[in-house]
Amino acid sequence: EQGHILFLPGDGIGPEVMEEVKRVAGWFGARGLVFALDEDLVGGAAYDRHGVPLAPATLEKATTIGTVMFGAVGGPAYDDLPFEKRPERGLLALRKELGLFANLRPALVFPALAAASALKPELVEGLDIMIVRELTGGVYFGEPKEVTSLPDGQERAVDTQVYTTSEIERIARVGFELAQKRSNRVASAEKSNVMKSGILWKKTVQRIHDTEFAGVELAHVLADNCAMQLVRQPKQFDVIVTDNLFGDILSDVAAMLTGSLGMLPSASLGAPDQHGRRKAMYEPVHGSAPDIAGRGIANPLACISSFSMLLRYSFERGAEADMLDRAITRVLDEGYRTADIMQSGATRVSTSEMGSRILDA
Ligand code: NAI
Ligand code: MG
Repeated sequence: EQGHILFLPGDGIGPEVMEEVKRVAGWFGARGLVFALDEDLVGGAAYDRHGVPLAPATLEKATTIGTVMFGAVGGPAYDDLPFEKRPERGLLALRKELGLFANLRPALVFPALAAASALKPELVEGLDIMIVRELTGGVYFGEPKEVTSLPDGQERAVDTQVYTTSEIERIARVGFELAQKRSNRVASAEKSNVMKSGILWKKTVQRIHDTEFAGVELAHVLADNCAMQLVRQPKQFDVIVTDNLFGDILSDVAAMLTGSLGMLPSASLGAPDQHGRRKAMYEPVHGSAPDIAGRGIANPLACISSFSMLLRYSFERGAEADMLDRAITRVLDEGYRTADIMQSGATRVSTSEMGSRILDA
């Protein structure tokens, strides 16, 4: 149902940053953009109540509602649980059950924070990259995946990179569609020089381009060169489409270009249904930050930016998403900073004060 969102705040700072997202949703709600909001437990919080990190009823709700705002899960209290009870199993189960195959990770450098980048400010000022990572295939899931013992006493570990044509087609389409709403440029990263799956990837992306998105500029780049170019001259990129493994690494490289974990949003999208609507989950890139949880100092901007992505990609509210993004830029320009992005001469604010500044802006 349009406007319906399931909030899963999770553990640690998850609930603290999600509180500010609820205030933002409330702000839009008071101005006619009506949401139906549901909330449930996930991760350690769900384990404490139900003995599992994702209760069947919660998964059912997520599937029915189809649009999830996720906080963060995990913490020291749960570190010794068996594998299937660990908080992150809840997150992985949601991704799998909702069929979220496309992970969108923007790397955006706010002018006021350019100095926090791992690179020289002039290299990253105005940087706005979108990394589109395939999330449900590739070497993390391919079979066989096993460890066997060899006669000579060694162990032998196998992971298998597997991609099918349709898996590549659908992630390519997500990349091209995004590019059409941005600067109309896609770079597809693979290793077609040494991998069969890379050859299929390159060929398939090229065909989807030629048959469906001929107006978008497409470049093929080897994944290792892509990593180098991201550090050397990042502004050459707009949308980067890549597989699960390379996307994991390239998105972390891109994250360091922006300089702050507390600022990074993400979206994970499923396949469109017959009405063109996709199941989707939105979450900050950061975790539950147990070292600062409960102190009211976490940066809520990654989670608020994730909500902006929700407005844009699930509710087609681009104007409202732009407004929210501008509010974030303005608050940073005005010098308000949570502790993690504090700079000399800036005004230090708490989690909830940051939320208030966003609403003011
Ligand atoms: P983390 O992202 O939670 O924290 C890393 C560092 O960044 C910490 O010093 C933390 O204080 C800081 N930080 C993170 N987000 C921040 C924010 N919004 N504002 C200010 N500072 C922030 O990663 P870490 O420490 O490796 O993991 C902590 C727990 O979170 C673990 O249990 C881990 O499994 C879990 N985790 C969960 C994720 C998720 O739910 N998607 C993702 C990554 C980790
Ligand atoms: Mg990673």
